[in-house]
Amino acid sequence: MALPSKIYLDHGGTTPLDPVVLEGLTTRLAWPLGNPNAAHESGQVARAMLEDARRSLASALGCTPESIVFTSGGTESLTLAVRGATTARRGRVLITTIEHSAVRTAAEALKTEAEFELDLLGVGSTGLIDPATLREALHPETRVVALILAQNEIGTIQPLERLVPLIRAHAPRARIVVDAVQAFGKADLHFLTSGPSAVDALAITAHKLHGPVGIGALFVNRPLHAWAKGGGQERGMRGGTQPAVLAWAFAEAVRQYALDVDAAVRIGALRDHLVASILESLPGVRLTGEPSGPSRLYNNAHFCIAGLPSEPLVNGLSSVGVAASAGAACSTGKGKVSPTLQAIGRRETEGAFLRMTLGRTSTLQDVDDAALRLVEVVTRLRQTYSKRTS
Ligand SMILES: Cc1ncc(COP(=O)(O)O)c(C=O)c1O
Repeated sequence: MALPSKIYLDHGGTTPLDPVVLEGLTTRLAWPLGNPNAAHESGQVARAMLEDARRSLASALGCTPESIVFTSGGTESLTLAVRGATTARRGRVLITTIEHSAVRTAAEALKTEAEFELDLLGVGSTGLIDPATLREALHPETRVVALILAQNEIGTIQPLERLVPLIRAHAPRARIVVDAVQAFGKADLHFLTSGPSAVDALAITAHKLHGPVGIGALFVNRPLHAWAKGGGQERGMRGGTQPAVLAWAFAEAVRQYALDVDAAVRIGALRDHLVASILESLPGVRLTGEPSGPSRLYNNAHFCIAGLPSEPLVNGLSSVGVAASAGAACSTGKGKVSPTLQAIGRRETEGAFLRMTLGRTSTLQDVDDAALRLVEVVTRLRQTYSKRTS
């Protein structure tokens, strides 16, 4: 029997490496490059590559090259931004209840290792922050506010152009950190790097937009205290020899992919088609989060499917060749509803939660086949689970 073709619908977890990036990466890894901090010629070739990449990322973000710090990825960028924002021993840190674990754990560390109060900002049932609730949570002693721009599970996009000025007005001492890992390349972020809603730090990573895993960056508007000072690289904020070739690959992925309006329109239409087909063909399914539009990532679909648990559904889909996830990749296998879903009021007893995230390689055929296979798997599992509970 022929195996079903593979359909990859987990671009929110990571994306396949762009072929142009892969080819350039392989070529450059074979070059005899020196340490970019060395004075000799091969070091300076690596330095030029690194600085070119920095300039490209800066231009994509609308900031100066000096404000880009290379890191190993989103988690490190966010940890540096939150924990490196202050050396104060006391104060308050405010995060939402739908932050990625990178921000959550960094904020918790400020609470346990320094004596910070951790304020948790709740969100509405679609994941949106209510400005009035934010206003109430701000405090003159708030030193760090960290907000996720586009939520990795449910795809909700926060109106930061309205929220940042509010934070500046009511928590003037706060450093504002933005997790733009999912949004970078899909939304224009210039408004967060300059002008009235400029923030203090903004984290991005390469592997969510067809670049390699292992390289990320942080836009830094005000100096941060190094987490790993090492030899003082990256303007003293992130020690360690910079991976010039990975930086090149990150910048190339951005050149190939970021803010491609045609791709965004095509992927958004495919996502809407996927959602419509699933809602039409399966009873007992609800879309989680915001409806299609500016408050939702155009490649994200997230469902609550009654009558079965999440893990068998994701495994069942995998067995028929569909890669999707029950939530964030980092909460997979933990066997309960993720903190984000809990925060928007979802409960395990409601059924399975399924995230399908599309990308540049997704096709109409993929989406149609994925919907058909989902119907089959859900129908089969519902029969199994209704027998078990009857
Ligand atoms: C919103 C968000 N923030 C942070 C991260 C962490 O990024 P990285 O995997 O590069 O450490 C992820 C990755 O899943 C994410 O989706």
